[in-house]
Amino acid sequence: MVEDEAFDTVLVVDFGAQYAQLIARRVREAHVYSEIVPHSMPVAEMLARRPKGIIFSGGPASVHVEGAPVIDPAVYEARVPVLGICYGAQLVAQQLGGEVARTGRGEYGRTAMEVTDSSILFAELPSTQDVWMSHFDSITRAPDGFRVTAATAEAPVAALENLDRGIFGVQFHPEVMHTPRGQEVLKNFLYDVAGCRPTWTMASIIETSVEAIRAQVGSEKVICGLSGGVDSAVAAALVHKAIGDQLTCVYVDTGLMRAGESEQVEQTFRQQFKIDLVHVKAADRFLEQLNDVIDPERKRKAIGETFIRVFEEVAVDHSDARFLVQGTLYPDIIESGTKDAARIKSHHNVGGLPDDMNFELVEPLRNLFKDEVRAMGEQLGLPEEIVWRQPFPGPGLAVRIVGTVTHERLEIIRAADEIVTEEIKKAGLYREIWQAFAVLPAVRSVGVMGDERTYAYPIVIRAVTSDDAMTADWARLPYDLLERLSSRIINEVPGVNRVALDITSKPPGTIEWE
Ligand code: XMP
Repeated sequence: MVEDEAFDTVLVVDFGAQYAQLIARRVREAHVYSEIVPHSMPVAEMLARRPKGIIFSGGPASVHVEGAPVIDPAVYEARVPVLGICYGAQLVAQQLGGEVARTGRGEYGRTAMEVTDSSILFAELPSTQDVWMSHFDSITRAPDGFRVTAATAEAPVAALENLDRGIFGVQFHPEVMHTPRGQEVLKNFLYDVAGCRPTWTMASIIETSVEAIRAQVGSEKVICGLSGGVDSAVAAALVHKAIGDQLTCVYVDTGLMRAGESEQVEQTFRQQFKIDLVHVKAADRFLEQLNDVIDPERKRKAIGETFIRVFEEVAVDHSDARFLVQGTLYPDIIESGTKDAARIKSHHNVGGLPDDMNFELVEPLRNLFKDEVRAMGEQLGLPEEIVWRQPFPGPGLAVRIVGTVTHERLEIIRAADEIVTEEIKKAGLYREIWQAFAVLPAVRSVGVMGDERTYAYPIVIRAVTSDDAMTADWARLPYDLLERLSSRIINEVPGVNRVALDITSKPPGTIEWE
């Protein structure tokens, strides 16, 4: 919750996971702060957050199915404007006495919609517009007191409203990009119905966060683990803006980092930001712990434990610090309540610390989505390489080396990985591709280079598209890019004589090889 009056709050009530986040992001793109809440949250608790508007998300269920998610109808009496979207609109219709029926004629995809009556939601918009539909039930009769303001061929009630009560519903999805004027519909609701101010801008987010950090920390000392990734970097830069040299950053070089990563951390935080930086060079220690470790889970464990030990030693030197910065993001907060317990891999987070360390947490990004974190990083002056860096696993290159991790094999994979990154960037694909990297398997094969027989390692190129790393597809890299990758890796990386491409989606594969 933003405890400040600088921002108006809109609640997005979640009726089916995948829709709510997108709506919340669109609201924020309209510069209004939004929070996702479960439909089961008591209405009194929702109102305690003093929302200016409440949006019901779509959902996978039918309002007729037993156990379909509902909301306490008290919400309609709260005098807070409501906008129901898709399932949310059907729920509004059903709960207030209209009719929702399985007509047998659903609509999926692009659909022409006619605005049939004037509406504040469609102000300034054309009377015919394309909208994105995805429903099999339809609202067949609006509740008493409601006007129908739009229709499509199959949905007689594509939009309905009771202006006096401030209750609206749209059958289409204004939040998806396939509804070209959808963002304007949302803005009409946010500004003209709910009266929200467009103050959720990066400048004011930073200002408010800085004040909140100062209020939390006072004159105490704070430490922050840097991983090289964007979240911890932005958190550190923000906290530094707030409290200056009360902050000490700790960067543990595990020796398992990408090429240039440690130098970048030095350059950015010590040179550019003049932050007090403790740079622990622990590569040998990590390699020692990884000696002859082949099993992926044992690798992760060895790295995690070593990391904690190293961090503890630093913390002892900074025992006067009372706070620890964590780069937790809003999606982590949303998901932590619902996350499936089944773990495919034991993801340890570098930066994650044992419970018995008595730090209080500072989590300055806990209200932000990833794209907002990046925008904040840019605004705070962090370099593009950090702000747009692709995700990297905590255990680093160790989980991309199948089999034993040795100094020599680390050199091979680091060099190959650097080429992959360079070429993907040159091809203009770096931001579009979720992750692209090199994998070093534990086999060797025969080749011929010049007149000589070689017996060396292959490099596997792994490139995937994804939105959230939960599922992923292998990226269709252009052939000429693949050709450049192959020839550069073989020519420039000693010990490699073959390049292969991983064409496995997730599932059944995982993104990393270990
Ligand atoms: P998988 O390989 O499970 O990876 O498909 C999903 C995402 O998580 C990253 N990953 C990790 N991140 N510690 C981390 O902090 C880990 O041990 C770890 N293993 C995988 C991976 O890079 C991908 O983005």
